Parts: sequence; C-alpha cells; structure tokens
Amino acid sequence: MSGRSYKIAVIKGDGIGPEIVGSAIEVLLKAGEKFGISFEFNELLAGGCAIDKYGLPLPEETLASCKASDAVLLGAVGGPKWDTADPSIRPERALLGLRSGMGLYSNLRPALLFPQLASASPVKDTGAVDILIVRELTGGIYFGENGSYKSDDILADGTVKGEVAYDTEAYSEGEIRRIVTQAFEYARGRRKKLTLVDKANVLRSSRLWRSVAKEIAPSYPDVALDFLYVDNCAMQLIGRPASFDVIVTSNMFGDILSDEAGMITGSIGMLPSASMGAPGTPGMFEPIHGSAPDIAGTGKANPLATILSAAMMLRWGLGEAEAADLIEEAVRKTLDAGYRTPDIASGDESEIIVDTNKMTGSVLSAIG
Ligand code: IPM
Ligand code: MG
Repeated sequence: MSGRSYKIAVIKGDGIGPEIVGSAIEVLLKAGEKFGISFEFNELLAGGCAIDKYGLPLPEETLASCKASDAVLLGAVGGPKWDTADPSIRPERALLGLRSGMGLYSNLRPALLFPQLASASPVKDTGAVDILIVRELTGGIYFGENGSYKSDDILADGTVKGEVAYDTEAYSEGEIRRIVTQAFEYARGRRKKLTLVDKANVLRSSRLWRSVAKEIAPSYPDVALDFLYVDNCAMQLIGRPASFDVIVTSNMFGDILSDEAGMITGSIGMLPSASMGAPGTPGMFEPIHGSAPDIAGTGKANPLATILSAAMMLRWGLGEAEAADLIEEAVRKTLDAGYRTPDIASGDESEIIVDTNKMTGSVLSAIG
C-alpha cells in the first residue's frame, strides 16, 4: 500500500480551467497522501492558450507528453477570444486531436443526481437518477469524410443548390463491437440494463450498431438490452430518467444526450467524464462543462466536476478505487454540510454559498 507514483499530464486550458484544475490537484494530493500515492504533474498547453503561444491548439509536444503519461487531467478549452479563428485552429480542435491522437474511443459520462441537489433539477420528481452514458468518441460524423463543393443543380422548386457541404456518419463493425462490449461490461457491474440509442429507422449505420449489439447480447444473458431511437430517448430521459442505467451510443448522439442528461441532474458544474482507449493506455479525465470565460477569475467556478473527474481518473485510469471512494465521499459530505457554489444554490436558507477556494477547502477537510 505504499510508494505508488503516477505521471499526470495536466492541461489547465482556458477560462476557469486553471482554477478548477488547481482545486482538483490539491484534492488529489491530499487523498493520495492517505494511501501512499504520489503524483508527478506535468503541465502542458492546449486550446486557446496554446493558440496564443504557438499559433495552434494542440502542439505536438502536448500530445506526445499526454501519450507518455499515466493519465491526463484536463480543465476546459475555448472562449470568445478564439471564436473567429479558422476552424482548423479553433481550441476545440485540441480536444478532438487528443481524442483521436490518444485513441480515446470510449467516453464515460455519468449523470448522477445528488439527492442534496434534487431541487436544482428542472425536472420534477425525477426519482434516483444514475445514468452512465457510454459515448463512442473517435468515430462517426465527427471524424468521417467531409468536404464541400459548388453545384449548379436546380432543386425541384427552382432554387439553385450553390455551395454544398457534407459530413459522413460511418461506423465499422470493429468500432461498434469494442464500445458496445464495454457498455455491456459496465451494465453488468451496475443495474444490468443497457439501452442502445440510435436512429435505425432511418440510418444504415444505426442498423449496423443494432446487429452488432444483438450478436454480443447472448454473451451477457444477465444484462437486459433494449433499443431506443434517439428522438424517443430525448423524450424518455425527461419522462422517466430514473429508469435508465447504461446508455451506449454514437459520437454525435452521445454529445447531445449527455448535455440533456446533465441538465436533469441539476448542474453541469457537477458532472465529470472519462475518455478511455485500449487497456493499458492513458485515459483523459475532464469536467463536462466548458471554460465559462464569463466567470473566470471571479471565484464563482464550481470545482466539483473537476474534483470528481480526478476521482474518475483514480478509479478508471489508475486503478486506485479506494482513493476515488474517499474523494467522492468527501464531495457528498461537503454537499450534506450545505456548501454550494452559486450554480448549485437553490435559495434554501440552510445553504452556505461559497467560492471556488472555500468549496475546495471543504472537500479537503472532509477528506480529513
Ligand atoms: C463535448 C463537447 C465537444 C464535443 C466539443 C467542444 C468539440 O461538446 O465534449 O461534449 O462535441 O465532443
Ligand atoms: Mg458536448
């Protein structure tokens, strides 16, 4: 139980990124101490700050150092300052480059409603919401063939087509099999329900997802598999959120549904995520929310999503489940004690409204 040491690549990013990652590092150090775990943090640039310094969002050295680490902890990238940049050098390209460059094909986005924050959910009487969204992260329309061209063709109503732009949704059996198999495994370790979300009534690629899932299902007789069209799923998530366990879906549907599921849990400021690749390769851990440039430097940022991402890093990335449990328990205790950053305050007078530092401090003291 002693002397374990991990190399963590740290990308603080833009906006509130540096503040919330700072909080997570303090929490990691404190929890690590309890279990004889030490960390070597290697700070790297990506996103807007890298554009400012190097003229590109993902310097080669950043990607290489991330690949050589045990795990990557990321804050958030982007901001209005870079919104007008050429699409090929926008801060978001750093995320996409890290995902594809590190082979992070599996994105775990848990949407957990903390009972203490139930009143912050815009959905009434949700019940106990605890959903794990497993989003495919390196395929589909995000990475498919794309292009644009000019067309003089005339539409039926006489309109000239003009500029045409296209993006392609393409999935291989192999890409589907590895993510769906993982999702079955996660479901097996949870409430044993897996929902595959697709648009199989329209899309051929979705029909391939279904047939691969049906092929895998007999190996998991203990897991109940069902299928939902994405439009129906968007509705059911609001109507019966507590009935979902694990959802597995494509890159784009997962992007959209994870924001929706996040909203149901009350605050995007609470949601962590993990992006994982082949076993034995480093994963990347980051909050789901963005860089919130409007509140950067004001002390209003909620550090809990990043702190919970650090817990996911310990659990899923480093195999340090006990230290992860300790951090998650400390977050629950902090919420029980009534501490709230403004984004998760409900107005109840028992709440104690705190800034980023005080919130971090109370998690640190709950760790003990
Ligand atoms: C996310 C974000 C990214 C995505 C953007 C910033 C490229 O929305 O991680 O969900 O679409 O994947
Ligand atoms: Mg998104």
